[in-house]
Amino acid sequence: MQKKKHAQTSFLLAALAGLLFGYDTGVISGALLFIKREFVVSPLLEGVIVAAVLLGCLIGVSVGMPLAQRFGRRATLFLSAVVFIVGTIACTFALDIAWLIAARLILGLAIGISSMCAPVYLAELAPAGVRGRLVTLFQLCITLGILTAYLVDLLLAPHWRGMFFVGVVPAMILLIGILPSPESPRWLLSKGREDKAWEVLLRVRSTKKEAKRELVDIKESLAHQQGGLGTLLKTHLRVALAIGVLLAFFQQVTGINAVIYFAPSIFKAAGFGSDLGALLATVGVGVINVLATIAALYAIDRLGRRYLLLLGLSGMIVTLSALAVGFWIGQGGFLAPLTVASVLMYIMFFAIGLGPGFWLLAAEIFPLEVRSLGMGLATLANWGSNLVVSLTFPMLLHSLGGAGVFSLYAFFSVIAWVFIKGYVPETKGKTLEEIEAYWLGFNRQTKL
Ligand code: BGC
Repeated sequence: MQKKKHAQTSFLLAALAGLLFGYDTGVISGALLFIKREFVVSPLLEGVIVAAVLLGCLIGVSVGMPLAQRFGRRATLFLSAVVFIVGTIACTFALDIAWLIAARLILGLAIGISSMCAPVYLAELAPAGVRGRLVTLFQLCITLGILTAYLVDLLLAPHWRGMFFVGVVPAMILLIGILPSPESPRWLLSKGREDKAWEVLLRVRSTKKEAKRELVDIKESLAHQQGGLGTLLKTHLRVALAIGVLLAFFQQVTGINAVIYFAPSIFKAAGFGSDLGALLATVGVGVINVLATIAALYAIDRLGRRYLLLLGLSGMIVTLSALAVGFWIGQGGFLAPLTVASVLMYIMFFAIGLGPGFWLLAAEIFPLEVRSLGMGLATLANWGSNLVVSLTFPMLLHSLGGAGVFSLYAFFSVIAWVFIKGYVPETKGKTLEEIEAYWLGFNRQTKL
């Protein structure tokens, strides 16, 4: 019982990193309205304020990768908590726009570091049978963070400094809580610290037998790994790398953050009357996102990753097409309700498929020696594509209109579906070591 409690606390802490990720990316949508009243903000600067976090993330992931490999998952998460606190306080007390942009960049650093490290830590601590559920917990926390940010924005308006400051609470909990948590046994073994790894396994597994089996498995998988980019680019692992990076890309270019960051603008473009109505519908987006992620949490280790990814993408294709058709037919009494219904269903399908599916597969498909590197590259691709989509969405909405931009996202969703159907293996119930063995024996006919 005590053992389980130990493990659960570590899982919750790593998932807290997800909450911070969601909160600090989501909070800007409402805060921006009031920042613009206090400072002179051109449309270009507005874009830069939003994108600064994403740019910081890109840097954070690059820094986080070698840190997680060298100093361990726990120390890296601790560092991210410190940076979260510094960034949050800096945002809260910003005296001018340049300061705010710099502070948002620091926040982005923290999100970048933790977004690559937390899922790896979770996947490495989790027993195989519930790994999907535990890594999905990270995604659930992202959605809870986004929803909290939407609600705090609504409640604290117009106090944008307070909106930022609220983020300090989860950051403090992460900082304090991560200290007594165990280090990843897999990372410890990769550094030759077998005694310590054994201690952790005994602490987080229910029986000694289970711990022993896992220790042997990890050692075996370490024995034939060299690590580094060279390893990752070897023929059999190239496929894993392509899957990680392409899933990251598809998660973003199918339009999720056009909705998460710009939902009120979409609702207004569809003819929504009041600001309040658009903001409330946005809270609806946040709620559905959380609820559908909870459903995914229960389903992902039962129905499997592939099934949920394909189901989710099918729904996204239908709802994005409905949005495109709605905008193409044009304004009319029906466009606003059709848009709200399609956006809500779209979010639901994202949240059961690509939302958790990408983070989970990226955390589990790479062999130990290259796991943080592989995860880092996939996370980098995710933030890079996010940056491009977020910067181009307002422009595309303006130039192509809703019909054009949503057709584009629907088109990418079709390609993603075909790719997943053809190449993504089912990893449900497999140990991380079995997944490694799969890549070693990879050929087109083999399916997990
Ligand atoms: C994505 C984020 C997105 C969030 C929405 C995550 O999986 O990586 O970019 O904002 O889901 O719930």
